[in-house]
Amino acid sequence: MSSTGAATQEAASIKPATGKLGIMIPGMGAVATTLIAGVEAIRRGLAKPIGSTSQMSTIRLGKRTDGRSPLIKDFVPIAHLDDLVFTGWDIFGGNLYDAAKTAQVLDRDQLEQIRPYLESIEPMPAVFDQHYVKRLEGKKVKTGKNKCDLANQIRNDIAEFKTRTDRQVMIWCGSTEIFLEQTAVHRTLEAFEKGMIDNDPGISPSMLYAWAALKEGIPFANGAPNLTVDIPALQELSKKMNAPICGKDFKTGQTFIKTVLAPAFKVRNLGVSGWYSTNILGNRDGEVLDDPEATTKRVGTTSTSSAGSATRCSSRSTSSAATPSSPLLSLSTSSSSWTSRRARQACAASAFRSGSASTSRLPTAPPASTRSMTSSSSR
Ligand SMILES: NC(=O)c1ccc[n+]([C@@H]2O[C@H](COP(=O)([O-])OP(=O)(O)OC[C@H]3O[C@@H](n4cnc5c(N)ncnc54)[C@H](O)[C@@H]3O)[C@@H](O)[C@H]2O)c1
Repeated sequence: MSSTGAATQEAASIKPATGKLGIMIPGMGAVATTLIAGVEAIRRGLAKPIGSTSQMSTIRLGKRTDGRSPLIKDFVPIAHLDDLVFTGWDIFGGNLYDAAKTAQVLDRDQLEQIRPYLESIEPMPAVFDQHYVKRLEGKKVKTGKNKCDLANQIRNDIAEFKTRTDRQVMIWCGSTEIFLEQTAVHRTLEAFEKGMIDNDPGISPSMLYAWAALKEGIPFANGAPNLTVDIPALQELSKKMNAPICGKDFKTGQTFIKTVLAPAFKVRNLGVSGWYSTNILGNRDGEVLDDPEATTKRVGTTSTSSAGSATRCSSRSTSSAATPSSPLLSLSTSSSSWTSRRARQACAASAFRSGSASTSRLPTAPPASTRSMTSSSSR
């Protein structure tokens, strides 16, 4: 049978998405709370799923002239929003209402309308190690005799969640971890599992969550530019458990816009000296990325272009990108009227801290086609 035939047969055997879909999120900060609050607001008819491919996009069937373009959600058997159940882990105490208030992406009035729901979700204690996220201090963290023990505690959490839901997925929405390179411990599952017992420094918390999810047969998506599942060991486990892995940063916000712009620049052979962008959320992730060791964003956001031209983006944290008087900064802050007040303040405040304009401009570069793109932030 041809590979296409095999794929068709496999697709035909996909079961409809019935029952509750459990979404497990390590890292319940700005992204996670906005997602969860948004889903709840939509469920209650308080908001529309603007920007959601699954909810609002259509798929064309047949010829353009056939006029058959159903909504994806009506054509593909995906879970209904009413069937989503959320849980997760974080190093901070409190519930998701507190976390969403701290993130200040949504305003207070919006949050008040769904407050009881957000208050009903409290992140579980996290597997956390400050070595991988320097600027944060864990307040609600698991303790264990080694990394293997900690990962097994995550498996216990998953097992409990499985009793309340029918299917599960895990999405890493935690802070960006320090830059890690592949080493011997990442090469095989055997080496990785031994490394978990030996507390190998090459194994970060996000890898432990991924390992736990895959061991439980649960798909894992990576929303950060961390190395996490880009290693043969976890790919081996993914295949073995028939549990898919995907993701490398969310490619939302600024990264998304850059992926649109980069191919256009390349087509016209326009050289790019650098990207200037702001972390409009000004949240903990911004603080984490302020750490010079958090170079993951600079080298980790790969292949962002749909046309495949921006093959590698590097970035620098926004806070060192401009002086308060920079016209670039004032353009960014004044034009973002849809962001929260705090976000704009945070953006300005971080620029005030830096006091250097030099990093917002890179030396003259060769044409885009011959070099990689450089960005200030990957939001
Ligand atoms: N904000 C965006 O628009 C955007 C876009 C693309 C990608 N991302 C990526 O998504 C991730 C989340 O971004 P955010 O804006 O929500 O950041 P955030 O700082 O608001 O939230 C991250 C949360 O992760 C928690 N955390 C850190 N390490 C953890 C661990 N080991 N276990 C459990 N929790 C942990 C932190 O306490 C924090 O609450 C980041 O990696 C970021 O790079 C964000």
